[in-house]
Amino acid sequence: MGGSLLLPLSYQYRTYAKDAGSPKVIPFSLPFKIPPVLRPVRSDSTTDYYEITMRRASVDILPGRKTEIWSYNGMSPGPTIRQRKVWYPETQQFRRSVVRFINSVGVPTTVHLHGMASLPQYDGYAEDMSAPGFYKDYIYPNNRAATLWYHDHALHNTARNVYMGLAGMYIVEDDEELNLPLPKGQYDVPLMLADKIFARDGRQVFDDQGEKHVMGDVITINGVPWPRMEVANRKYRFRLLNASISRSYLLKLSTADDFIFIGTDAGLMSQPARVKEFRIGPAERYEFILDFSRYPIGTQVILQNGKLPNNDEFDNTDKVMLFEVTRSETDNSSIPNVLRNNIPPVSEMMSQAVRTRDFRYERSNGLWVINGKTWDKNRVDANPAPGDVEIWRIYNNAGGWHHPIHVHLVDAQIIDRNSQQPFAYERGWKDVFYVGENESVQIVGKFSSTTGGKYMSHCHNTVHEDHDMMNQFEVGIGGPSPFSDPPKPLPA
Ligand code: C2O
Ligand code: CU
Repeated sequence: MGGSLLLPLSYQYRTYAKDAGSPKVIPFSLPFKIPPVLRPVRSDSTTDYYEITMRRASVDILPGRKTEIWSYNGMSPGPTIRQRKVWYPETQQFRRSVVRFINSVGVPTTVHLHGMASLPQYDGYAEDMSAPGFYKDYIYPNNRAATLWYHDHALHNTARNVYMGLAGMYIVEDDEELNLPLPKGQYDVPLMLADKIFARDGRQVFDDQGEKHVMGDVITINGVPWPRMEVANRKYRFRLLNASISRSYLLKLSTADDFIFIGTDAGLMSQPARVKEFRIGPAERYEFILDFSRYPIGTQVILQNGKLPNNDEFDNTDKVMLFEVTRSETDNSSIPNVLRNNIPPVSEMMSQAVRTRDFRYERSNGLWVINGKTWDKNRVDANPAPGDVEIWRIYNNAGGWHHPIHVHLVDAQIIDRNSQQPFAYERGWKDVFYVGENESVQIVGKFSSTTGGKYMSHCHNTVHEDHDMMNQFEVGIGGPSPFSDPPKPLPA
């Protein structure tokens, strides 16, 4: 890096990302791809068993260069797990997944299935790490239909590990949803969004700018820089996950047409919402329909990114991917006016709330803190009883940063943001709450009555999470310990 040492550090980093950073890729020159669906290694009458090895792999991301990733089964994103929600009266459980995560990646890991209420010992507790050479069987209950993701959650190193590639999608469907006439099969498409920085030789550069944030100059979807997706002139359902470490996006279409929103983090909304532009912070998921039937064959539709405060902008961070309408097909899908009818109104949940808690996300003495405190596995900051409904007021007191706040275990709804109604696209169950610069957000959620124990809550700018904007709550007292099913050594 040729920059003068007298320059402010942030400037040097920015110079680094821009000049020494990513070799040029022409946006929309690389083909779109979808991660493969993982097959179980075996199945029995109640359970599907999967196996995923975390290991380093050398892959093609940039033309003419090899890039080392930290992968699930040799790829990033990892393979997608697709499950059905099926209830078994005999076991009084839904069909389960048992996923054996084998650590061959050379650093300690723990795996969190983001968005599914798993028992504490299978939730990817940050300190419950598998050392290299160890494995752990994580049990997942598949108790509701939603677009989830699995990712690394290692204490103090989540950002680096996820950035290097340890992230994959996990999709659960149920009969109710499959009976709706929404686009299905190959027209139901996961999109994992992440920004990256590459060195000239193709290496991934993890640069958190002094524990502040990671801001890539290359935008990838499903691991491909600015891909071009060929589509038919019909409707598609997209499941968009922002798996970026720190970057939030303000997305719109080059045609100025609507996204027809159908889902939030935790599944379908009550009814569709038409939206021209939306922001999505790290770890949020949104599902929407794009209707390409309105365009003549040959039309190009660009998914564009606008400017948000505190994102570093580079030449091509204003674009994400290209849809090109290349063929004509009939379309029997449609978008029902009612998608789901069991989401309680926010006012009804508020009337059931038994208490209100305040969480202030702040910057203090060079650390990211919550209510003035850093992470301590021996401290519990909230102790709801099983079944309690609570209101949490989340304040962004850290000035010019946005914080996407994730609460493990529970789904909640947004009551308001700065006393205003939530955006139309946020009205549904969520587990990540975008608390923008100078914003405060109130949420209301119910703490499960079946799953006691300790769960984390943190900023999902994982650089902030790592240093040290994370705390924990405990549902009930003395539930199962997050360490109660420790990792096991691989057989020699
Ligand atoms: Cu997606 Cu605690 O994480
Ligand atoms: Cu944050």
